[in-house]
Amino acid sequence: MGFQRGGRYSLDAFRHEALGEVTSTNTECLARARLGDPGNLWVTAARQSAGRGRRGRSWASESGNLYASLLLIDPAPPERLGSLPLAVSLAVHATLRSVLPMAAEAVEIKWPNDVLIGRKKSCGILLESEALSDGRRAVVIGIGINIGHRPDDAPYGVTSLQEQGCHISPDELFPHLYREMAQVLAAWDEGRAVSSITERWRNAACGIGGQIRVNLPDRSIDGRFAGIDDQGLLILDTGHASMAIAAGDVFFL
Ligand code: BTN
Repeated sequence: MGFQRGGRYSLDAFRHEALGEVTSTNTECLARARLGDPGNLWVTAARQSAGRGRRGRSWASESGNLYASLLLIDPAPPERLGSLPLAVSLAVHATLRSVLPMAAEAVEIKWPNDVLIGRKKSCGILLESEALSDGRRAVVIGIGINIGHRPDDAPYGVTSLQEQGCHISPDELFPHLYREMAQVLAAWDEGRAVSSITERWRNAACGIGGQIRVNLPDRSIDGRFAGIDDQGLLILDTGHASMAIAAGDVFFL
């Protein structure tokens, strides 16, 4: 599996549909999957009326930012899908690095897949998966990148590409994401290359070794961010125990 012409994730293996206003590009991809789309379909939109964020939150989606979703069908056996969110964050990380000026602040990844610029959130990634009635599994990778706008009510620092000195339109930014995603998916190798993906992720991550708070649905836990395991789980050293955490919001202390 490689990045060569004709491979499953070669540059010419993807289609792209650019839409105006939609409810959510993730919803559009899931609808197409239910209608039998073979996958490797990018859907972008100028604006979303019901953009979705993680944990049931909404994602403010006025025009000027990038809203993109990629539909994959059966990208890997279910037991090998755990590292896909890490791989996706590497593609977004590379995308931002490819367009930001040299003088911009550091681009880093916050577990599991928030890409930060100068420790401020600059994009959101939402992976959704659905078992289709014909037995296939649809996986949708939704990505929103703050270009000209950023939410002003977020409980964490947020930024936009414009604030970082990068003046680019969504249409100019998308080809960078398209190319970086194809490269990362080819390298991910249907989840077989988990070790090299986690290694690359560790090199791009911030906060490893530092004190963090992880907000879980029912409680918060403080501890030392010891790293991630080979499935991408966050390892938190609480002083009493080492916990492996699959989902939660991380705050640096
Ligand atoms: C997060 O909460 O950090 C994830 C936000 C993901 C937003 C993107 S925008 C494109 C795609 N469509 C959606 O409805 N959500 C994702």
